[in-house]
Amino acid sequence: MPEITFIILGVTGDLAKRKIIPAIYKLIEENKIEKFALVGAARRELEMKEILKEAREFIKDVKENIWQRLENNAYYQQFDFYDCQHYRKLGKILRNLESKHQLPGHRLFYLATLPDHFNAITLNLAKTGIAKEQGKKWSRLVYEKPFGHDLPSARKINRGIARVFNENQVYRIDHYLGKELVGNIAILRFTNRVLEPLWDSSNIQSVQIHFREKIGLEGRGNFYDKYGALKDVVQNHMLQMLALTAMEAPQKLTGKFIRDEKAKVLKVIKVKDLLLGQYSGYQKEKDVDSNSSTETFAAVKLSINNKRWKNVPFYLITGKNLDKKEVKIDIKFKSVHCLLSASCPSDTNYLTIRVQPDEGFSLELFAKVPGKANAVMPAKMNYCHECIRDLRSPEAYEILLEDVIKGDQSLFVRSDEIEYQWKVIKQILRKKNQIYEYNIGSAGPQELSLFEKKHHLRWRL
Ligand SMILES: NC(=O)c1ccc[n+]([C@@H]2O[C@H](COP(=O)([O-])OP(=O)(O)OC[C@H]3O[C@@H](n4cnc5c(N)ncnc54)[C@H](OP(=O)(O)O)[C@@H]3O)[C@@H](O)[C@H]2O)c1
Repeated sequence: MPEITFIILGVTGDLAKRKIIPAIYKLIEENKIEKFALVGAARRELEMKEILKEAREFIKDVKENIWQRLENNAYYQQFDFYDCQHYRKLGKILRNLESKHQLPGHRLFYLATLPDHFNAITLNLAKTGIAKEQGKKWSRLVYEKPFGHDLPSARKINRGIARVFNENQVYRIDHYLGKELVGNIAILRFTNRVLEPLWDSSNIQSVQIHFREKIGLEGRGNFYDKYGALKDVVQNHMLQMLALTAMEAPQKLTGKFIRDEKAKVLKVIKVKDLLLGQYSGYQKEKDVDSNSSTETFAAVKLSINNKRWKNVPFYLITGKNLDKKEVKIDIKFKSVHCLLSASCPSDTNYLTIRVQPDEGFSLELFAKVPGKANAVMPAKMNYCHECIRDLRSPEAYEILLEDVIKGDQSLFVRSDEIEYQWKVIKQILRKKNQIYEYNIGSAGPQELSLFEKKHHLRWRL
């Protein structure tokens, strides 16, 4: 069983408390790690106990004995990302703890902070040698999303990393890839013979990817106003869902092969059209510029410039403060030739992969209406992953941390993928013009109907 030293850089932040510490707790509880030490670092003067206490609020059904183990092995160091002396001091602390807890020296550095700090942290970790791999001792670096704020900044971070670390030490998080269903799109496609032969432009009419949020900014105004919907969710989660849906079959369903195929798709995406929106009252939100033109809603039409997806539009829709929370992929198949006069024009089959809520997937086929000779009705074949009792879906961060420990990079984004994703955003932003207002709790701006009309599109709700 793995024996690990976790180092969370930015441990006082929201992310560490809500996600990373609870994920480490679960790994201990489920016996996925044996011996461990956890060192948290940030600027503030604090005790690790205080940080853990706040994190505990985000863990369900805490078991006292497991919690005690976590508390007994957790330490805090006051730390400035920009001060090399602090890294040297951290190195010393790590050596002492590894000796105290009889750990082999495998180190997992989690950069739980803003991308503005990534270059300095990468460089200082390398300069001071505390993330150096020696013999069998590995050191892995986890970079939280967002990875940069545009193509040049992401490139700069990538280059900084490549100068001092190997790509196989680097884990760029897109926590949506840790969601059970997203991680399994490839499994669904490539382990079901009935699907893959249909997975192309001769059978698929269009693809919709929905990422609708009911929530607003939730105190993240400062961050969100600099990013907006395109950079916050399209650049990462939505393009990764698209890449998994559209990629060619990889040689194997593992890290390098999957990432090779995703990268090929991301490279050939072309932006066709877009419509942006902002909810009313956004400019009055806390920490938001009173003249802000940041989009909180986006509908985008993309195409994939390869043989498999010729003339198949991919529609993306996302927004904050909408009427519902829903993350899913809808694959719309082409309609069959009309054979039954009573049901013409015939409807089409849909495969829906639901990420949130009701994680699972469904396939809509057609069946005869009982008792009526020519009438057909849709019959939904549904698989609800969450409905199966005793099958707890682990939290995304749990899955991802476990994979870092195993050294499996399949669910992490490679440097080239990140840059292609930013290139798509660059294409979109070149087309950015008007921002339409929409009401909180609505389905988006009213002008969305023009976009739908133009593209003969009906969002599947
Ligand atoms: N929160 C979430 O659920 C979530 C989910 C997905 C992604 N993310 C992303 O994850 C990143 C971190 O998010 P967050 O919400 O945790 O941010 P945050 O609450 O602002 O925390 C940032 C952390 O960095 C530390 N820090 C900042 N400057 C430092 C410096 N010079 N030296 C040492 N420590 C420094 C802060 O510590 P002190 O202030 O104590 O110095 C704090 O611990 C962001 O990019 C965010 O977008 C967050």
